[in-house]
Amino acid sequence: MNQNNEYGCYLELDSMLNDTYKLTGYLASSELSIVYLGYNVESGESVVIKEYYPKALVMRDMDNKTVISRKPSAQAHIDRLREAFRREAAMLKGLQHKNIVGFMNDFEQNETSYLVTAYCRGQTLESYIHKNHPMARADWVGKTLIPLLEGIQYMHDQGIIHRDLKPGNVMIGEDGSPQVIDFGSAIHLNTASSYPIMTSAGFSPLELYSDKSKQGTYSDMFSLAAIIYYVLTGQVPMDISQRLIQDNLPSVRKLNNRVSVVLSCIIMWGMAVKFAKRCPSFRVMKAALHMEYYRLKGLDLSIGKLKKTEKPTPRL
Ligand SMILES: Nc1ncnc2c1ncn2[C@@H]1O[C@H](COP(=O)(O)OP(=O)(O)O)[C@@H](O)[C@H]1O
Ligand SMILES: [Mg+2]
Repeated sequence: MNQNNEYGCYLELDSMLNDTYKLTGYLASSELSIVYLGYNVESGESVVIKEYYPKALVMRDMDNKTVISRKPSAQAHIDRLREAFRREAAMLKGLQHKNIVGFMNDFEQNETSYLVTAYCRGQTLESYIHKNHPMARADWVGKTLIPLLEGIQYMHDQGIIHRDLKPGNVMIGEDGSPQVIDFGSAIHLNTASSYPIMTSAGFSPLELYSDKSKQGTYSDMFSLAAIIYYVLTGQVPMDISQRLIQDNLPSVRKLNNRVSVVLSCIIMWGMAVKFAKRCPSFRVMKAALHMEYYRLKGLDLSIGKLKKTEKPTPRL
């Protein structure tokens, strides 16, 4: 077995896939998949390749490539999860928007499934906020938060809900523009889905913790509002389980008084525990972000002006 990497399970670098993609690096791995960096040898374009590899259930065969079941009894489970993995490609195929990662290809090889997407240069919103201060700045509202909302609105208009929006699933380019990735939990709006999804503390709404409850665009509204909360305060919102009996989620404005009362209230409305009480409209959220953009721009300008007109006190 290939034992020269963390799990002894990654494909070797320089491997070719689909006679088109050469692997050049490892980006991430989770319970269900391994994410590689690579490039298309025909076009030279950088790509990201996600391989279905549920590591608790499978391993590589003697060739270090073919994926085989660890136990014959797990095969049915592996196949079910593989169906869910393939759905990510099916969801992404129909979406074309500058704020959603671009779909490039999907194929089967090595007895497993692959999804190829465009490489987003930059870093995840999660790592960005880790390294930087909370972003109550006009350019961030304009370049990042409003386009992020527009990407989500677009997918909803195509009838798709993402269901796993969180800072780790948003890439931020060097110019601040966002791209939503990871459609592994996405579904069509009118599908009654009971297949398993991941939940993320602070960013997943209550209704996603049960596959019996109704889910809709309001579920993505919760996660979007939680992402905006995180960007503006630098804090992951309190998890929903701690808000059920008494909701003591501190307001955005309490944590960052540079944020207006109006935007703070709309974000908190977007994060209401019960979906029926949640802000139902992405338009309302967008209007609040627009207003905030102009307000913060005014604030930044007046601070800039003050700084420019500040003269050293003359010595008498
Ligand atoms: N298109 C991409 N461009 C750049 N990095 C990516 C891209 N897709 C995924 N990644 C990186 O790989 C990580 C895992 O990818 P993701 O699709 O979220 O898989 P998972 O289902 O394991 O969460 C992301 O958090 C990001 O760091
Ligand atoms: Mg992810």
